[in-house]
Amino acid sequence: MKALVLERYAGAGGIEFADIAGPRIEPNEILVQVHAAGLNPIDYMIAKGDFKPIIKLGLPATLGSDLAGVVTSVGSAVTRFKVGDAVYASTFDLGFGALAEYVAVPEHAAALKPAKLDFVQAASIPMVGLTSWQALKERAQVKPGQKVFIPAGSGGIGTFAIQLAKHLGATVGTTTSTANLALVRSLGADEVVDYKSQAFEDVLSGYDVVLGTVKGDGLEKALRIVKAGSAVVSLIGPPTAAFARARGMNVVLRFVFGLLSRKIIGRARARDASYSFLFVRADGSQLAHIATLIEASHIRPVVDRVFPFAQAKEAIAYLEGGRAKGKVVVQMLAP
Ligand SMILES: NC(=O)c1ccc[n+]([C@@H]2O[C@H](COP(=O)([O-])OP(=O)(O)OC[C@H]3O[C@@H](n4cnc5c(N)ncnc54)[C@H](OP(=O)(O)O)[C@@H]3O)[C@@H](O)[C@H]2O)c1
Repeated sequence: MKALVLERYAGAGGIEFADIAGPRIEPNEILVQVHAAGLNPIDYMIAKGDFKPIIKLGLPATLGSDLAGVVTSVGSAVTRFKVGDAVYASTFDLGFGALAEYVAVPEHAAALKPAKLDFVQAASIPMVGLTSWQALKERAQVKPGQKVFIPAGSGGIGTFAIQLAKHLGATVGTTTSTANLALVRSLGADEVVDYKSQAFEDVLSGYDVVLGTVKGDGLEKALRIVKAGSAVVSLIGPPTAAFARARGMNVVLRFVFGLLSRKIIGRARARDASYSFLFVRADGSQLAHIATLIEASHIRPVVDRVFPFAQAKEAIAYLEGGRAKGKVVVQMLAP
């Protein structure tokens, strides 16, 4: 079968289409014919080797992790899915790449596709949905009436997280460039800062939760807008010693991550805030919850561009440009 494969850690130069053997499933896995695969920044970061200390990949490895498709066979221990089911899943960090014609998906990582979404829309959801859920609901435990700051509101994470935070009853602040102001307002953002003309730390205040989504000095600046007792949950690092421990990493990496995060943890403490790094995990039961929110129209997908599978490399390059409005999706099978 055709797959987009990382052959060596060299960014775009290390990615090629390849004809590889189709996956064989284990008893607890389903085989999915992929109709569409959503892209995420981690796909090009992995290709560059940025995650080598954290994610152990045997190369060549199929890229991608978000997918929507149809079950074509089920392992003997599978109980929740049958052949013909339309499903969506994240295989992130599980060792199964989604940018392929077929993917073996562990049953625990999949959920039925929201019926109101087509395959492209459904494939846009898993990583941003799971990350937002795990950051806002599990980690920060956002409560009605709290103020949540979600910078980069027009990106893949932002477009989902704004809607989830609103659904949880929060007041949402965000940043975006002038062209995307209307988009983020349409998703429910209450306090919108055009970062091209204003510094958010000069206009926002009283936040209970901050999501770290933009590299640079944004996290430190965000500490100026938080209340005492607030939670800063970073998706972009620096990773912490606690994260390294939870992942079973060796003592050297624990030490290195401890050093890398020492400054931001100290600055957060000085503001009576907590700092933590979140690394998303695949979770089909959370995707099933997210599907109910989509079916009830609390959350809608925001898809910027769709590329045919043959142009998957161009799709990754477009995402890497950093200007996507919502999600970039690769389509394997036309509807
Ligand atoms: N730790 C984890 O488990 C995890 C999971 C998912 C994602 N992430 C990380 O989270 C980050 C965001 O992911 P994503 O999927 O949202 O990326 P993305 O879709 O590629 O983000 C693109 C968006 O970022 C906006 N943007 C760029 N610079 C900005 C700035 N200075 N201020 C405000 N907006 C800005 C752009 O809007 P404009 O064109 O208006 O500038 C664009 O809409 C990435 O670093 C990703 O790797 C981490």
